[in-house]
Amino acid sequence: MNYEIKCFECGSMIHDGFLDSCPRCGGLLTIDMDLGEMEGKDPRELRQRPMGVWRYAPFLPVEERNAISLLEGGTPLYDCRALGKEIGVKRLHVKYEGANPTGSFKDRGMTVGVSRAVELGCKVVGCASTGNTSASLAAYAAKAGLGCVVLLPSGKVALGKLAQAMFYGAKVISVDGNFDEALSVVRELAKEGHLYLLNSINPFRPEGQKSVAFEIVDQLDFEVPDVIALPVGNAANIWAVYKALTEWMSVGWIDRMPRLIGVQATGSNPITAAFRLERKDFEAVEHPETVATAIRIGNPASGKKALKAIYDTDGCATDVTDEEILSAQKLLGRREGVGVEPASAASVAGVLKLRAEGEISGSDQVVCICTGNLLKDPDTVIKNAGEVLRSEASAAAVKRLIGG
Ligand code: F0G
Repeated sequence: MNYEIKCFECGSMIHDGFLDSCPRCGGLLTIDMDLGEMEGKDPRELRQRPMGVWRYAPFLPVEERNAISLLEGGTPLYDCRALGKEIGVKRLHVKYEGANPTGSFKDRGMTVGVSRAVELGCKVVGCASTGNTSASLAAYAAKAGLGCVVLLPSGKVALGKLAQAMFYGAKVISVDGNFDEALSVVRELAKEGHLYLLNSINPFRPEGQKSVAFEIVDQLDFEVPDVIALPVGNAANIWAVYKALTEWMSVGWIDRMPRLIGVQATGSNPITAAFRLERKDFEAVEHPETVATAIRIGNPASGKKALKAIYDTDGCATDVTDEEILSAQKLLGRREGVGVEPASAASVAGVLKLRAEGEISGSDQVVCICTGNLLKDPDTVIKNAGEVLRSEASAAAVKRLIGG
């Protein structure tokens, strides 16, 4: 497996494995995989390997024998007929990333990112996070025996995620500021050599996250859906999905790209705003706010990559209100039995909205990536799920409550 680290913006080759931006132009970094060996191969050969991120090892820039793994990936692709009918699309699937080891898609990037940290001989890893990245990094750092420091925006991290980061033994630091501010602090610490940065501006993270797109196509038996919708926060995941599919196009494993649809919350919508103005770059939202705290991000580090992914696939970006997010979350739970956190429900809310606007057609085959588990944010669930009925301990009293 051969690869080069390059600047996404000016194309410079990067030789220092510890950089998280281009020394020449300050641009984002990306990884160019040499996939010559895969050309012309039968993709179904990979099925001899177990489901999961490492099934796709030939597309990953870390040697599999060095993998720090918790058996991430291999998540269900649910055929959601009832929900599809309600939304008015022919076929709707939900890729349920809540089934990953720490309950979110972040594990896909972290297995590759932490393996890379070990290859580089790092002793301490760190990140800023709206919650899921910290939960995932803390677990993989524990598995690898590394120190771990996570910076969280104070008061805005869902309970389950905070519990996870604390539980796996990370040094958890609550920063007086939002995610964007915490990210700039941790980047400074990384630059000074205090830790190895494992936010998704580290180009090894999206490499692992590519596997969600590989799996979707693999699970659909190499049929390419018309649309893949996913929530956008710091904006690396939509780029990872795009990169994965362009790589499979390049080796001839698929022959067309799906439209990629990025969904944001209206209070944190810099990519959507840029898309509406047909811009290739975005302006930061200064005070991002949304119930979907995972994507409460105003200055997405990988925003330019996300916009490229959207424009190149003739996709789009849209935003949904907190009410739309909570209502889609509930709909997915009650029609399909699938529990996702609010940010993840944004993808479903976005598809609902775009179908109503005619941007998605009724004959489209749509996949929503639902990025995190319902139990990540129990407070929001309890606040919005109705009431618990109280009863004395007698069958008669309970019968009165259940109506017969
Ligand atoms: N969905 C969930 C559940 C997330 O936790 C995140 C990001 C996203 C979607 C957006 O993905 O950033 O690649 O566009 N969470 C990060 C974190 C920021 O710190 O856990 P993205």
